Amino acid sequence: MNDMNDTGPSRLNNAGGEFLWNFWYPALRSEQVYGRKLTRAMLLEAPLALGRDAAGKPFALRDVCPHRAFPLSFGQFDGATVECAYHGWRFDAHTGQCKHIPSLTADSKLKCERIYAGSYRCAERDGYIWVFMANTEGREAAGASISAALPEVPTFSARYKMAHLWAELPCNVDHGIIGLMDPAHGPFVHQAWWWRSRRSIREKAKQYEPIANGFRMSPHAPSANSAPYKILKLITGEPATTTIDFVLPNVRIEQIRAGRYWLSSRTTVTPIRRDLCRLDFCAAWNILPWFPVVSLIIHVLGPRFIRQDTEVIEKQALGLKYQERMMLVDDADRPARWYFELKAACLESQRTGMPMEHPVSGPVTLRWRS
Ligand code: FES
Ligand SMILES: [Fe+2]
Repeated sequence: MNDMNDTGPSRLNNAGGEFLWNFWYPALRSEQVYGRKLTRAMLLEAPLALGRDAAGKPFALRDVCPHRAFPLSFGQFDGATVECAYHGWRFDAHTGQCKHIPSLTADSKLKCERIYAGSYRCAERDGYIWVFMANTEGREAAGASISAALPEVPTFSARYKMAHLWAELPCNVDHGIIGLMDPAHGPFVHQAWWWRSRRSIREKAKQYEPIANGFRMSPHAPSANSAPYKILKLITGEPATTTIDFVLPNVRIEQIRAGRYWLSSRTTVTPIRRDLCRLDFCAAWNILPWFPVVSLIIHVLGPRFIRQDTEVIEKQALGLKYQERMMLVDDADRPARWYFELKAACLESQRTGMPMEHPVSGPVTLRWRS
C-alpha cells in the first residue's frame, strides 16, 4: 500500500480518510438527547435521528424516510414510534420497522411491516450516545454478533469524577488521528511559559508493543518536563506511571497511575464527513474528588490544548489543498505509520474475512526529540 522502509522517510498519499465500518462511534453527548425530541447527528456521512424511548433508552434511525426520503427528524415521536412529517408513516424507534401507513385502505395488499427505516445499534456510555456503524444504510444482518467493543474510559475505583471536552476538526479522519498521536508537534504548538517551551526539547525513548487492533506505549514514568505530571506528583506524593494505547478505529486511551490515585482519559477522533471530524475527550479521575484541582486543570489546560490543535488542523488544510502527499519520518512519525498499516490491515481483513495481520510484530523502542 505504500513504500515503507526503515531508513528513509516514507511518502504517503493515501491519507484519504477512508471510513472504517463495523465499529462503535460516539454520535452525541448524552445531554443532547432528551425528552421526545429527535436530535440530528452525522457519523461517517450517514444522517442520523437520535432520540430516547419512554424508558429513556436511546435509539438511532437513519434520518431518511424509506418512502420518499423525507428526514425523519422533522417528524413526531410518541415514545415508541416516529411519525414521518410528510405522509405520516410510522416506524418503530428501535428496529425501524414500519408500523402504519395512513394512506392504505383496509383491503390493501401492501405489507407495511416488511418496510424498514434504517436503524443502528445504540448504547449509552461515559456520557455519550454511541452508535455501531455496520454500514451507511443502517441495516445490520439479522442476528449479527459484533466483535468490536465499545471503548470505555478505564476506571480503577468505585467513585470518581468525569469531564468532557470536544471540538470540531476541519480535516479527514486520518489527519485528525495522526495529529493526535504525533509527539513532535508538542514543543511548537503547545508551548506556554507554565507548560513547556522549545528549549525544553529533549531526547525521548519510549517502548511500544502491539495490542489487539492497536499499539501501546508501555507503562513508563511520564516526561519530567510536563507540568501536569509535576502537579500530580505533588498532590499524590507518589511517582506516576503512564500507559498510552491507540486502538482502531479512532481511540487513544491514556492511564496515569500513582499509588491509589489514577487519572485516565479517552480521546476519539470521529469522522462526521470526509472533511470534518469531531474530537471528543473524556477524562475520569479519583484524585482529590473533594477539591476540584484536576477538574480545574482539565477545564483550563484542556480547551487551550484543543484550541491549539484545532488551529493547526485549520492551517494545515490550507496546504493540503495543494499537496496531499506527506512524509513520515522515523521515529517520531512511526506511530502514524502504524496507524496507516493497521487501518490497511483492518480493511484487508474485512474484505477477505481472514484474521487481521498485525503490522507491529513485537516490542520496539522509538526514539525522538520533543
Ligand atoms: S416521505 Fe415519509 S411518509 Fe412519505
Ligand atoms: Fe496536540
